[in-house]
Amino acid sequence: MIDRKENAPAAEPERQYYFIEKVKEYVQRESGRLGRPLTANITTFGCQMNARDSEKLSGILREAGYEETGREDADFVIYNTCTVRENANLRVYGRLGVLHGYKRKNPHMKIALCGCMMQEATVVDKLQKSYRFVDLIFGTHNIFKFAELLYTTLMSDRMIIDIWKDTDQIVEDLPVERKYPFKSGVNIMFGCNNFCSYCIVPYVRGRERSRDPKDILREMESLVADGVKEIMLLGQNVNSYGKNLEEPMTFAQLLAEAEKIEGLERIRFMTSHPKDLSDELIEVMARSKKICRHLHLPLQSGSSRILKVMNRHYTKEQYLELAEKIRKAMPDLALTTDIIVGFPGETEEDFLETLDVVRQVRYDSAFTFIYSKRTGTPAAVMEDQIPEDVVKDRFDRLLKEVQEISKEMALRFAGTVQTVLVEEKNSQMEGYVTGRLGNNHVVHFPGGEELIGQLLKVRLDECRGFYYMGTAEE
Ligand code: 5AD
Ligand code: SF4
Repeated sequence: MIDRKENAPAAEPERQYYFIEKVKEYVQRESGRLGRPLTANITTFGCQMNARDSEKLSGILREAGYEETGREDADFVIYNTCTVRENANLRVYGRLGVLHGYKRKNPHMKIALCGCMMQEATVVDKLQKSYRFVDLIFGTHNIFKFAELLYTTLMSDRMIIDIWKDTDQIVEDLPVERKYPFKSGVNIMFGCNNFCSYCIVPYVRGRERSRDPKDILREMESLVADGVKEIMLLGQNVNSYGKNLEEPMTFAQLLAEAEKIEGLERIRFMTSHPKDLSDELIEVMARSKKICRHLHLPLQSGSSRILKVMNRHYTKEQYLELAEKIRKAMPDLALTTDIIVGFPGETEEDFLETLDVVRQVRYDSAFTFIYSKRTGTPAAVMEDQIPEDVVKDRFDRLLKEVQEISKEMALRFAGTVQTVLVEEKNSQMEGYVTGRLGNNHVVHFPGGEELIGQLLKVRLDECRGFYYMGTAEE
């Protein structure tokens, strides 16, 4: 076979469309030979950003003629990995063993790995040494090159590795295949500049880069024209959006522009850093008819001393003040958070400060994490790492508190009528569908598949801890 790379356009995204065509020729040829379609399978680990990236991978695979399957013994299998905590990495290694078994049965199978974990040199070393059956490895900065890398892999028997240390490039207008027709994520920025001392994200996702607001709004408009009703704006720290643009713009201003998009019903965003959350944002949210009444505001720790070592740039008191301001401006808003237990040097007193914040803020829900040592971060080499049994005990106490409060908080909406976006057929209960409230709570109610994607008024008849049972009005 002749590799026609020299004919490929140099400009993006044209170059990638060229390679999509090349892959398509291969897929047609192969499926003709085998007498069946070629299949592809994507597994996504981690956060909403990765979920959105996987939709981009999916768009390219479909455009190239692959049929997506839920089965992992597909012709092309890709893991979009996460490395925020160690156990995410361990899961990938475990599952690679299973993939190796499939590949022995189907030697034409190609296995690819991408995402945050691949940005770590130690991971790539290990894969090169002990996982020779992997065909393609690329990282977070060059995901836009997926079509080209895929083509190279299909034409080669070697392991293809392409990892970039960083990039300032943002490639627009590549194909995307959404998981849900009625809702979508939209990246507004990439990377993170905060360097919280426990966190590996700034090392694997690179420096903060904001997308041009015109590109964001154009993408949102075209999604809405394509039937999307709810959009989640995505960034590691959306509150610092726009600072590095040629014509700086605040996140609140971007939201105000998004609000004007006709046909767009709901706007969400993720994630906010408390240090950058402005009064302007609270005002825009409170005024808005479209921005959902949900704010995810990671606390990480309630101890001012630990917060300082974590490099979070706020104190317990400042956080509490902010939470109170938000609750006052929007009493019906759901406030959620992330908390880490067992950060190096965390004493019982520090932990009690965290519990105190949890009790005062009364989160609608909270993700609790056991501190995970990430090589290369400042916290990994801090003295006084906390013994496992102590961490486990604190974790259990925190979880119990968080769960009790969430249940009580959920009760406040029981009996009310809320607007719900119907997301899927209920997999447990025949004849039921599941929808999501603006505040991110979930409700199950009787209804058929035809309701999926619709916004309906639903009465929340009963609160069952973390979800509701309801009935649609009319
Ligand atoms: N250990 C445990 N949790 C972490 N997070 C980030 N890094 C670590 C780590 N090293 C958590 C934070 C963040 C969420 C996405 O993951 O709480 O908000
Ligand atoms: Fe990690 Fe902190 Fe950046 Fe969030 S803000 S991605 S926790 S460094």
